[in-house]
Amino acid sequence: MKPTDLDPMFPPRPTALAQQILREILRDGDWVIDATAGNGHDTLFLADCVGPSGRVLAFDVQAAAIASARAKVEQRGFAGRVEFFQVSHESMESHAAQNSVAAVMFNLGYLPGDDHALTTQSATTLAALEAAARLLKWGGALSAVCYPGHPSGAVEAGAVETWMASQVAKGWRVAKYAAIATRRPAPFLLLAQSS
Ligand SMILES: C[S@@+](CC[C@H](N)C(=O)[O-])C[C@H]1O[C@@H](n2cnc3c(N)ncnc32)[C@H](O)[C@@H]1O
Repeated sequence: MKPTDLDPMFPPRPTALAQQILREILRDGDWVIDATAGNGHDTLFLADCVGPSGRVLAFDVQAAAIASARAKVEQRGFAGRVEFFQVSHESMESHAAQNSVAAVMFNLGYLPGDDHALTTQSATTLAALEAAARLLKWGGALSAVCYPGHPSGAVEAGAVETWMASQVAKGWRVAKYAAIATRRPAPFLLLAQSS
């Protein structure tokens, strides 16, 4: 086998791993939230998982991100199951009932190729995680892909990991997945199941 024969997607990146795991637990008709719609990869994934009777609530502060995500969703014929909100994600509780949501996905950081100043911020991310925790139904899943490879991302990643760890005392199960021995701190996935 030559190096070029190796699968570049193995081991899976945190974003791909989050989707692989959530696909196993989501069901037709579920309500789910994409807290950082960005270019819409997770929005599209969630819309596929929940089927025509399900509902995806997708949040992003950037008009360009919403437009990009909406275009992807419409192209796949999923527009009827996705609702977009151009507001900060800590307002997600205004749009869903407590204990009603099967999964909330966060992919933190900035929109690839876009203005790096428009990145997620620790304070609003933590407020959004608190809101997500109240919306999740028993056994619901919370995923967060964190990027500690740049200074503000490192602060946010640390804050999110600390918050996730604090949920264990409430009976949640929480895990962390990351590549090891990388040159810079590697992106990691935090995955939690609510109780
Ligand atoms: C890494 S990107 C998300 C990528 C996306 N999940 C995808 O699959 O293409 C992070 C996104 O979070 C958005 N964002 C930043 N602050 C936010 C906030 N307070 N509320 C909601 N979205 C926010 C950015 O505009 C950016 O589009």
